Amino acid sequence: MSNVSDPYREFLRRTRRSREFHERSRKSTALEVVGTVDMPHPVYIAEGSGSRVVDVDGNEYIDLSMGFGCHVLGHAHPEITAAVSEAAALGVQFGIHTPCQQPLAELLCEAAACADLVMFCNTGTEATMYGIRAARAHTGKQGIAVFEGAYHGAHDGVLVEAADGSPRDRPAAAAMGWGVPEAAVEQVLMLPYRHEAAFDLIRGNRGRLAVVLVEPVQGANPTLDCGDFLHRLAEVCREAGVLLMFDEVITGFRLAYGGAQEVFGVTPDLAAYGKALGGGLPIGAVAGRADIMRRFEWQKHREQQDKVFSGGTFGGNPLTMAAGLAAVSRLRSHPELYDRLAGHGRRLEEEIGRFCRERSLPMQVLTARSMIHLRFQRGRIVSARDVDRSLAEAEREFYTRLMLEGVLIPGDHLALTSTAHTDGDITRVIEAVEAAASATRGL
Ligand SMILES: Cc1ncc(COP(=O)(O)O)c(C=O)c1O
Repeated sequence: MSNVSDPYREFLRRTRRSREFHERSRKSTALEVVGTVDMPHPVYIAEGSGSRVVDVDGNEYIDLSMGFGCHVLGHAHPEITAAVSEAAALGVQFGIHTPCQQPLAELLCEAAACADLVMFCNTGTEATMYGIRAARAHTGKQGIAVFEGAYHGAHDGVLVEAADGSPRDRPAAAAMGWGVPEAAVEQVLMLPYRHEAAFDLIRGNRGRLAVVLVEPVQGANPTLDCGDFLHRLAEVCREAGVLLMFDEVITGFRLAYGGAQEVFGVTPDLAAYGKALGGGLPIGAVAGRADIMRRFEWQKHREQQDKVFSGGTFGGNPLTMAAGLAAVSRLRSHPELYDRLAGHGRRLEEEIGRFCRERSLPMQVLTARSMIHLRFQRGRIVSARDVDRSLAEAEREFYTRLMLEGVLIPGDHLALTSTAHTDGDITRVIEAVEAAASATRGL
Protein backbone atom coordinates (compact mmCIF):
# COMPACT_ATOMS: atom_id res chain seq x y z
CA MET A 1 0.00 0.00 0.00
CA SER A 2 1.98 2.98 1.24
CA ASN A 3 5.35 1.31 0.54
CA VAL A 4 5.12 2.26 -3.14
CA SER A 5 8.36 3.82 -4.31
CA ASP A 6 6.77 7.10 -5.42
CA PRO A 7 3.90 7.96 -3.06
CA TYR A 8 3.17 11.26 -4.83
CA ARG A 9 2.61 9.60 -8.17
CA GLU A 10 0.38 6.98 -6.55
CA PHE A 11 -1.57 9.76 -4.83
CA LEU A 12 -2.14 11.51 -8.18
CA ARG A 13 -3.28 8.23 -9.73
CA ARG A 14 -5.87 7.65 -7.01
CA THR A 15 -7.23 11.18 -6.83
CA ARG A 16 -7.84 12.23 -10.45
CA ARG A 17 -11.29 13.66 -9.87
CA SER A 18 -10.06 15.68 -6.90
CA ARG A 19 -7.39 17.12 -9.15
CA GLU A 20 -10.05 18.11 -11.72
CA PHE A 21 -12.09 19.83 -9.00
CA HIS A 22 -9.00 21.64 -7.82
CA GLU A 23 -8.05 22.90 -11.26
CA ARG A 24 -11.59 24.07 -11.89
CA SER A 25 -11.96 25.76 -8.53
CA ARG A 26 -8.75 27.75 -8.94
CA LYS A 27 -10.44 29.68 -11.74
CA SER A 28 -13.10 31.07 -9.38
CA THR A 29 -11.87 30.66 -5.81
CA ALA A 30 -8.86 32.36 -4.28
CA LEU A 31 -8.75 29.89 -1.41
CA GLU A 32 -11.19 27.15 -0.57
CA VAL A 33 -9.84 25.92 2.73
CA VAL A 34 -6.40 25.96 4.19
CA GLY A 35 -4.77 22.84 2.65
CA THR A 36 -6.03 19.51 3.94
CA VAL A 37 -2.61 17.96 3.78
CA ASP A 38 0.53 19.33 2.18
CA MET A 39 0.14 17.52 -1.17
CA PRO A 40 0.16 18.10 -4.90
CA HIS A 41 -3.54 18.94 -4.64
CA PRO A 42 -6.25 18.70 -1.99
CA VAL A 43 -8.65 15.80 -1.84
CA TYR A 44 -12.31 16.75 -2.16
CA ILE A 45 -14.67 14.99 0.21
CA ALA A 46 -17.98 13.73 -1.15
CA GLU A 47 -19.52 12.40 2.06
CA GLY A 48 -18.88 11.41 5.64
CA SER A 49 -20.47 9.05 8.12
CA GLY A 50 -19.29 8.19 11.63
CA SER A 51 -15.50 7.95 11.59
CA ARG A 52 -15.21 7.75 7.80
CA VAL A 53 -15.14 10.10 4.85
CA VAL A 54 -15.17 9.23 1.15
CA ASP A 55 -13.53 11.46 -1.46
CA VAL A 56 -14.88 12.24 -4.93
CA ASP A 57 -12.73 9.45 -6.40
CA GLY A 58 -14.34 6.92 -4.06
CA ASN A 59 -11.35 6.51 -1.70
CA GLU A 60 -12.44 5.94 1.88
CA TYR A 61 -10.45 7.32 4.81
CA ILE A 62 -10.58 7.03 8.56
CA ASP A 63 -11.03 10.72 9.23
CA LEU A 64 -8.94 12.31 11.94
CA SER A 65 -9.82 15.86 10.97
CA MET A 66 -13.42 15.63 12.14
CA GLY A 67 -14.37 18.93 10.53
CA PHE A 68 -11.37 20.53 12.27
CA GLY A 69 -12.82 19.38 15.55
CA CYS A 70 -16.55 20.06 15.22
CA HIS A 71 -17.74 16.48 15.12
CA VAL A 72 -17.13 14.99 18.54
CA LEU A 73 -19.91 12.47 17.80
CA GLY A 74 -18.65 11.66 14.28
CA HIS A 75 -20.01 12.68 10.90
CA ALA A 76 -23.74 12.77 10.20
CA HIS A 77 -24.79 11.66 13.66
CA PRO A 78 -28.45 10.61 13.29
CA GLU A 79 -29.70 12.71 16.24
CA ILE A 80 -28.02 15.83 14.90
CA THR A 81 -29.17 15.21 11.34
CA ALA A 82 -32.76 14.74 12.52
CA ALA A 83 -32.66 17.89 14.65
CA VAL A 84 -31.31 19.95 11.76
CA SER A 85 -33.92 18.63 9.32
CA GLU A 86 -36.71 19.38 11.76
CA ALA A 87 -35.44 22.90 12.41
CA ALA A 88 -34.88 23.58 8.70
CA ALA A 89 -38.50 22.81 7.94
CA LEU A 90 -39.54 25.65 10.27
CA GLY A 91 -37.29 28.27 8.65
CA VAL A 92 -33.57 28.44 9.04
CA GLN A 93 -32.94 32.04 10.04
CA PHE A 94 -34.92 34.99 11.33
CA GLY A 95 -32.38 37.36 12.81
CA ILE A 96 -34.91 38.50 15.40
CA HIS A 97 -35.57 36.57 18.60
CA THR A 98 -36.59 32.92 18.60
CA PRO A 99 -36.87 30.52 21.56
CA CYS A 100 -33.96 28.49 20.11
CA GLN A 101 -30.95 30.00 21.90
CA GLN A 102 -32.02 29.57 25.47
CA PRO A 103 -31.75 25.74 25.80
CA LEU A 104 -28.20 25.65 24.44
CA ALA A 105 -27.21 28.71 26.47
CA GLU A 106 -28.48 27.01 29.62
CA LEU A 107 -26.45 23.88 28.87
CA LEU A 108 -23.32 25.93 28.28
CA CYS A 109 -23.83 27.86 31.52
CA GLU A 110 -24.20 24.56 33.36
CA ALA A 111 -21.16 22.95 31.69
CA ALA A 112 -18.63 25.78 31.83
CA ALA A 113 -17.46 26.82 35.27
CA CYS A 114 -16.84 30.42 34.19
CA ALA A 115 -20.17 30.89 32.43
CA ASP A 116 -22.70 33.03 34.27
CA LEU A 117 -23.91 34.27 30.91
CA VAL A 118 -23.18 33.47 27.28
CA MET A 119 -23.48 35.22 23.93
CA PHE A 120 -23.66 33.34 20.65
CA CYS A 121 -21.92 34.28 17.44
CA ASN A 122 -20.90 32.31 14.38
CA THR A 123 -17.27 31.24 14.65
CA GLY A 124 -14.45 30.79 17.11
CA THR A 125 -12.82 33.82 15.48
CA GLU A 126 -15.78 36.01 16.45
CA ALA A 127 -15.82 34.53 19.93
CA THR A 128 -12.23 35.54 20.71
CA MET A 129 -12.78 38.92 19.06
CA TYR A 130 -15.83 39.71 21.19
CA GLY A 131 -14.21 38.32 24.31
CA ILE A 132 -11.21 40.60 23.85
CA ARG A 133 -13.47 43.58 23.20
CA ALA A 134 -15.43 42.90 26.38
CA ALA A 135 -12.19 42.55 28.35
CA ARG A 136 -10.94 45.88 27.04
CA ALA A 137 -14.20 47.57 27.88
CA HIS A 138 -14.30 46.06 31.35
CA THR A 139 -10.72 46.91 32.33
CA GLY A 140 -10.28 50.14 30.38
CA LYS A 141 -6.97 48.78 29.10
CA GLN A 142 -6.00 48.03 25.49
CA GLY A 143 -3.22 45.44 25.49
CA ILE A 144 -3.71 41.69 25.21
CA ALA A 145 -1.28 38.84 25.75
CA VAL A 146 -1.15 35.56 23.87
CA PHE A 147 1.25 32.63 23.97
CA GLU A 148 3.64 31.59 21.24
CA GLY A 149 2.29 28.68 19.22
CA ALA A 150 -1.34 29.52 19.91
CA TYR A 151 -4.09 30.08 17.35
CA HIS A 152 -7.09 32.17 18.30
CA GLY A 153 -8.79 32.75 14.95
CA ALA A 154 -8.41 34.95 11.90
CA HIS A 155 -9.18 38.50 13.12
CA ASP A 156 -6.47 41.17 13.10
CA GLY A 157 -6.30 41.33 16.87
CA VAL A 158 -4.77 37.88 17.26
CA LEU A 159 -3.00 37.24 13.96
CA VAL A 160 0.43 37.30 15.50
CA GLU A 161 3.18 34.78 15.97
CA ALA A 162 6.53 34.68 17.69
CA ALA A 163 9.07 36.37 15.44
CA ASP A 164 11.73 34.01 14.12
CA GLY A 165 14.94 34.31 16.04
CA SER A 166 13.45 36.30 18.93
CA PRO A 167 14.57 35.16 22.39
CA ARG A 168 12.86 32.14 23.93
CA ASP A 169 12.04 33.94 27.18
CA ARG A 170 10.90 37.12 25.47
CA PRO A 171 9.43 36.30 22.07
CA ALA A 172 8.58 39.27 19.87
CA ALA A 173 5.15 39.52 18.22
CA ALA A 174 5.14 39.52 14.42
CA ALA A 175 2.11 39.74 12.12
CA MET A 176 1.01 36.42 10.67
CA GLY A 177 0.96 37.24 6.97
CA TRP A 178 0.45 40.57 5.24
CA GLY A 179 -2.45 42.91 5.77
CA VAL A 180 -2.53 42.90 9.56
CA PRO A 181 -2.21 46.52 10.77
CA GLU A 182 0.90 47.34 12.76
CA ALA A 183 -1.33 49.01 15.31
CA ALA A 184 -2.99 45.63 15.98
CA VAL A 185 0.34 43.87 16.44
CA GLU A 186 1.54 46.61 18.82
CA GLN A 187 -1.33 45.79 21.16
CA VAL A 188 -0.15 42.21 21.57
CA LEU A 189 2.35 41.01 24.12
CA MET A 190 3.76 37.64 23.07
CA LEU A 191 4.39 35.26 25.96
CA PRO A 192 6.66 32.21 26.10
CA TYR A 193 4.56 29.09 26.59
CA ARG A 194 5.05 27.22 29.88
CA HIS A 195 7.97 29.44 30.78
CA GLU A 196 8.50 31.26 34.05
CA ALA A 197 9.30 34.46 32.15
CA ALA A 198 5.67 34.67 31.02
CA PHE A 199 4.56 35.45 34.57
CA ASP A 200 7.08 38.27 34.93
CA LEU A 201 6.00 39.71 31.59
CA ILE A 202 2.37 39.75 32.72
CA ARG A 203 3.28 41.42 36.02
CA GLY A 204 5.51 43.93 34.25
CA ASN A 205 2.75 44.86 31.78
CA ARG A 206 -0.17 44.85 34.21
CA GLY A 207 -0.84 48.54 33.57
CA ARG A 208 -1.60 47.97 29.88
CA LEU A 209 -2.94 44.41 29.70
CA ALA A 210 -6.70 43.88 29.57
CA VAL A 211 -6.58 40.13 29.15
CA VAL A 212 -4.36 37.10 28.74
CA LEU A 213 -5.76 34.73 26.14
CA VAL A 214 -4.66 31.11 26.35
CA GLU A 215 -5.53 27.84 24.68
CA PRO A 216 -5.62 25.75 27.87
CA VAL A 217 -4.37 22.87 25.73
CA GLN A 218 -2.60 24.09 22.62
CA GLY A 219 -3.80 22.51 19.38
CA ALA A 220 -0.22 22.63 18.13
CA ASN A 221 1.11 21.10 21.31
CA PRO A 222 -1.55 19.01 23.04
CA THR A 223 -0.54 17.63 26.42
CA LEU A 224 -2.25 17.31 29.76
CA ASP A 225 0.75 18.22 31.89
CA CYS A 226 -0.05 21.92 31.79
CA GLY A 227 -2.34 21.99 34.85
CA ASP A 228 0.22 23.61 37.18
CA PHE A 229 1.04 26.19 34.54
CA LEU A 230 -2.65 27.10 34.15
CA HIS A 231 -3.18 27.36 37.92
CA ARG A 232 -0.20 29.69 38.22
CA LEU A 233 -1.34 31.70 35.22
CA ALA A 234 -4.75 32.25 36.80
CA GLU A 235 -3.12 33.31 40.07
CA VAL A 236 -0.70 35.73 38.41
CA CYS A 237 -3.50 37.28 36.32
CA ARG A 238 -5.69 37.70 39.38
CA GLU A 239 -2.90 39.35 41.36
CA ALA A 240 -1.99 41.60 38.43
CA GLY A 241 -5.58 42.72 37.78
CA VAL A 242 -5.52 41.26 34.27
CA LEU A 243 -8.46 39.17 33.02
CA LEU A 244 -7.90 35.59 31.90
CA MET A 245 -9.72 34.17 28.91
CA PHE A 246 -9.57 30.49 27.95
CA ASP A 247 -9.87 29.75 24.27
CA GLU A 248 -11.94 26.56 24.48
CA VAL A 249 -12.80 26.55 20.79
CA ILE A 250 -11.24 23.09 20.41
CA THR A 251 -11.23 21.88 24.02
CA GLY A 252 -14.84 22.81 24.85
CA PHE A 253 -17.03 19.67 24.96
CA ARG A 254 -14.08 17.70 23.56
CA LEU A 255 -11.50 17.37 26.31
CA ALA A 256 -14.34 16.79 28.77
CA TYR A 257 -17.97 17.86 28.93
CA GLY A 258 -16.88 20.87 30.97
CA GLY A 259 -13.85 21.42 28.73
CA ALA A 260 -10.42 22.34 30.02
CA GLN A 261 -11.97 24.17 32.95
CA GLU A 262 -13.27 20.85 34.26
CA VAL A 263 -10.07 18.91 33.52
CA PHE A 264 -7.68 21.36 35.18
CA GLY A 265 -10.02 22.88 37.79
CA VAL A 266 -9.16 26.41 36.68
CA THR A 267 -11.93 28.98 36.18
CA PRO A 268 -11.06 31.90 33.91
CA ASP A 269 -12.99 35.17 33.73
CA LEU A 270 -14.06 34.54 30.15
CA ALA A 271 -14.00 31.68 27.67
CA ALA A 272 -14.43 31.43 23.91
CA TYR A 273 -16.25 28.47 22.38
CA GLY A 274 -16.92 27.18 18.88
CA LYS A 275 -16.62 23.92 16.97
CA ALA A 276 -18.14 21.06 19.04
CA LEU A 277 -20.71 23.36 20.66
CA GLY A 278 -22.43 23.71 17.27
CA GLY A 279 -22.70 19.99 16.53
CA GLY A 280 -21.06 20.63 13.15
CA LEU A 281 -22.81 23.87 12.19
CA PRO A 282 -21.03 27.25 12.37
CA ILE A 283 -20.95 28.57 15.91
CA GLY A 284 -19.02 30.71 18.35
CA ALA A 285 -19.85 31.73 21.89
CA VAL A 286 -18.39 33.96 24.55
CA ALA A 287 -19.06 32.83 28.10
CA GLY A 288 -18.03 34.45 31.31
CA ARG A 289 -18.58 36.37 34.50
CA ALA A 290 -21.88 38.23 34.63
CA ASP A 291 -20.32 41.64 35.35
CA ILE A 292 -18.23 41.40 32.18
CA MET A 293 -20.86 39.73 30.01
CA ARG A 294 -23.56 42.27 30.94
CA ARG A 295 -21.56 44.79 28.95
CA PHE A 296 -22.92 43.17 25.79
CA GLU A 297 -26.44 44.40 26.66
CA TRP A 298 -26.48 47.02 23.97
CA GLN A 299 -29.76 48.78 23.31
CA LYS A 300 -30.38 51.37 20.68
CA HIS A 301 -31.04 54.94 21.82
CA ARG A 302 -29.71 54.33 25.32
CA GLU A 303 -26.63 55.71 27.01
CA GLN A 304 -23.93 53.32 25.69
CA GLN A 305 -20.73 54.59 27.31
CA ASP A 306 -19.89 51.33 29.04
CA LYS A 307 -21.44 48.94 26.51
CA VAL A 308 -19.76 46.62 24.04
CA PHE A 309 -21.03 46.35 20.50
CA SER A 310 -21.73 42.97 18.96
CA GLY A 311 -23.73 42.14 15.89
CA GLY A 312 -24.28 39.43 13.33
CA THR A 313 -27.06 38.33 11.06
CA PHE A 314 -26.66 34.66 11.88
CA GLY A 315 -25.71 34.56 15.56
CA GLY A 316 -27.86 32.07 17.45
CA ASN A 317 -29.73 31.00 14.32
CA PRO A 318 -32.22 28.16 14.80
CA LEU A 319 -30.38 25.66 12.63
CA THR A 320 -27.11 25.95 14.52
CA MET A 321 -28.90 25.98 17.85
CA ALA A 322 -30.76 22.79 16.95
CA ALA A 323 -27.55 21.01 15.92
CA GLY A 324 -25.69 22.25 19.00
CA LEU A 325 -28.50 21.28 21.34
CA ALA A 326 -28.72 17.77 19.87
CA ALA A 327 -24.93 17.27 20.14
CA VAL A 328 -24.48 18.72 23.61
CA SER A 329 -27.55 16.91 24.99
CA ARG A 330 -26.19 13.61 23.73
CA LEU A 331 -22.79 14.27 25.30
CA ARG A 332 -24.43 15.32 28.56
CA SER A 333 -26.51 12.16 28.81
CA HIS A 334 -23.60 9.84 27.89
CA PRO A 335 -20.63 10.81 30.07
CA GLU A 336 -19.01 7.45 29.30
CA LEU A 337 -18.30 8.74 25.79
CA TYR A 338 -15.50 10.85 27.25
CA ASP A 339 -13.79 7.70 28.57
CA ARG A 340 -13.83 6.37 25.05
CA LEU A 341 -12.24 9.57 23.69
CA ALA A 342 -9.58 9.50 26.42
CA GLY A 343 -8.85 5.85 25.55
CA HIS A 344 -8.09 6.82 21.94
CA GLY A 345 -5.37 9.25 22.97
CA ARG A 346 -3.95 6.80 25.50
CA ARG A 347 -3.63 3.99 22.98
CA LEU A 348 -2.21 6.17 20.24
CA GLU A 349 0.36 7.69 22.57
CA GLU A 350 1.39 4.34 24.05
CA GLU A 351 1.50 2.24 20.91
CA ILE A 352 2.82 4.74 18.36
CA GLY A 353 5.17 6.15 20.99
CA ARG A 354 6.60 2.67 21.66
CA PHE A 355 7.01 2.02 17.93
CA CYS A 356 8.90 5.31 17.45
CA ARG A 357 11.15 4.73 20.45
CA GLU A 358 11.96 1.15 19.44
CA ARG A 359 13.01 2.36 15.99
CA SER A 360 14.61 5.56 17.24
CA LEU A 361 12.42 7.56 14.87
CA PRO A 362 12.44 11.36 15.24
CA MET A 363 8.69 11.33 15.85
CA GLN A 364 6.82 11.99 19.09
CA VAL A 365 3.15 11.60 19.85
CA LEU A 366 1.64 14.34 21.98
CA THR A 367 -1.88 13.74 23.21
CA ALA A 368 -4.53 15.33 25.33
CA ARG A 369 -7.29 12.72 25.22
CA SER A 370 -8.85 12.96 21.73
CA MET A 371 -6.39 15.67 20.59
CA ILE A 372 -3.35 14.01 19.06
CA HIS A 373 -0.36 15.62 17.42
CA LEU A 374 2.50 13.72 15.79
CA ARG A 375 5.56 15.92 16.04
CA PHE A 376 8.58 15.31 13.84
CA GLN A 377 11.15 16.33 16.33
CA ARG A 378 14.04 15.03 18.37
CA GLY A 379 14.49 16.24 21.92
CA ARG A 380 12.03 17.64 24.40
CA ILE A 381 9.08 19.60 23.05
CA VAL A 382 7.94 22.47 25.25
CA SER A 383 6.48 24.90 22.80
CA ALA A 384 5.22 24.94 19.24
CA ARG A 385 8.41 26.80 18.34
CA ASP A 386 10.40 23.61 18.88
CA VAL A 387 10.30 22.56 15.23
CA ASP A 388 12.96 20.64 13.33
CA ARG A 389 12.72 22.02 9.79
CA SER A 390 15.20 19.47 8.48
CA LEU A 391 12.43 16.87 8.80
CA ALA A 392 9.88 18.82 6.71
CA GLU A 393 10.31 16.72 3.56
CA ALA A 394 10.07 13.44 5.47
CA GLU A 395 6.94 14.75 7.21
CA ARG A 396 5.32 15.60 3.89
CA GLU A 397 6.08 12.15 2.52
CA PHE A 398 4.80 10.51 5.70
CA TYR A 399 1.41 12.24 5.48
CA THR A 400 1.07 11.36 1.80
CA ARG A 401 1.78 7.72 2.62
CA LEU A 402 -0.68 7.89 5.50
CA MET A 403 -3.41 8.93 3.07
CA LEU A 404 -2.50 6.03 0.83
CA GLU A 405 -3.01 3.87 3.92
CA GLY A 406 -6.50 5.35 4.24
CA VAL A 407 -6.01 7.75 7.15
CA LEU A 408 -6.66 11.46 6.80
CA ILE A 409 -5.09 14.05 9.10
CA PRO A 410 -5.57 17.74 8.29
CA GLY A 411 -2.87 20.20 7.30
CA ASP A 412 -2.17 21.55 10.78
CA HIS A 413 -1.48 17.92 11.74
CA LEU A 414 -3.74 18.01 14.78
CA ALA A 415 -5.55 14.68 14.67
CA LEU A 416 -8.90 14.51 16.42
CA THR A 417 -10.96 11.43 17.09
CA SER A 418 -14.69 11.16 17.72
CA THR A 419 -16.93 8.86 19.71
CA ALA A 420 -17.68 7.12 16.38
CA HIS A 421 -14.08 5.87 16.13
CA THR A 422 -14.03 2.22 17.17
CA ASP A 423 -11.16 0.28 18.73
CA GLY A 424 -10.74 -1.26 15.28
CA ASP A 425 -10.34 2.19 13.74
CA ILE A 426 -7.66 3.08 16.28
CA THR A 427 -5.84 -0.21 15.61
CA ARG A 428 -5.97 0.55 11.90
CA VAL A 429 -4.60 4.09 12.47
CA ILE A 430 -1.70 2.65 14.46
CA GLU A 431 -0.94 0.11 11.71
CA ALA A 432 -1.15 2.85 9.08
CA VAL A 433 1.21 5.16 10.99
CA GLU A 434 3.68 2.31 11.40
CA ALA A 435 3.52 1.35 7.71
CA ALA A 436 3.82 4.95 6.52
CA ALA A 437 6.71 5.71 8.88
CA SER A 438 8.56 2.55 7.91
CA ALA A 439 8.36 3.44 4.22
CA THR A 440 9.21 7.14 4.55
CA ARG A 441 12.72 8.08 3.40
CA GLY A 442 14.83 10.14 5.76
CA LEU A 443 13.12 9.07 8.97
C1 LIG B 1 -8.09 27.34 19.49
C2 LIG B 1 -8.84 27.99 18.36
N1 LIG B 1 -9.37 29.20 18.56
C3 LIG B 1 -10.08 29.83 17.61
C4 LIG B 1 -10.27 29.25 16.38
C5 LIG B 1 -11.05 29.96 15.32
O1 LIG B 1 -12.27 29.31 15.14
P1 LIG B 1 -13.06 29.43 13.74
O2 LIG B 1 -12.24 28.70 12.73
O3 LIG B 1 -14.40 28.82 14.01
O4 LIG B 1 -13.15 30.88 13.44
C6 LIG B 1 -9.73 27.98 16.12
C7 LIG B 1 -9.91 27.32 14.82
O5 LIG B 1 -9.32 26.34 14.47
C8 LIG B 1 -8.99 27.34 17.14
O6 LIG B 1 -8.44 26.14 16.94
